Amino acid sequence: MRAMSTPAPSSYYQRHIFFCLNERKSGEESCARHDAQRGFDHCKARVKAAGLAGPGKVRVNKAGCLDRCAGGPVAVVYPEGVWYTFVDEADIDEIVEAHLGRGEVVQRLLLPPNVGR
Ligand code: FES
Repeated sequence: MRAMSTPAPSSYYQRHIFFCLNERKSGEESCARHDAQRGFDHCKARVKAAGLAGPGKVRVNKAGCLDRCAGGPVAVVYPEGVWYTFVDEADIDEIVEAHLGRGEVVQRLLLPPNVGR
C-alpha cells in the first residue's frame, strides 16, 4: 500500500485540489454564498507563490457542485480524496502548506463524513 504522500506513478500532477464555486439559484445553501471564489483565488496564488504549481506538483481547479453543499465552502484533494471545509485565508494557507506541500492532512478542517447536500 502506498503512503498518502506518494503519488500514483502515472499521475500528471502529484495532487489536485478542486474548489466548488457553485451558486444554487434556488436559495439553498451553496459554496458561492460562503466566499468560495475568494478561497479558490487565494489558494491558486499561494500554490504559485510557494512554487508548488505545475506538472508533477499541484493543480488548483474550479469545480461545479460536489453535492456536499451543506458543508460549504468545500474543497477536495486528490489522489487522497480528502474533503475540507474552510472559513478564511488562514485555513487555505494551512491546507496549502501542510497537505499540498507536505502531504499532511489538516485534521481540524476536515469535512465531517455525513455532510451532504
Ligand atoms: S454548492 Fe458546493 S458542494 Fe454543492
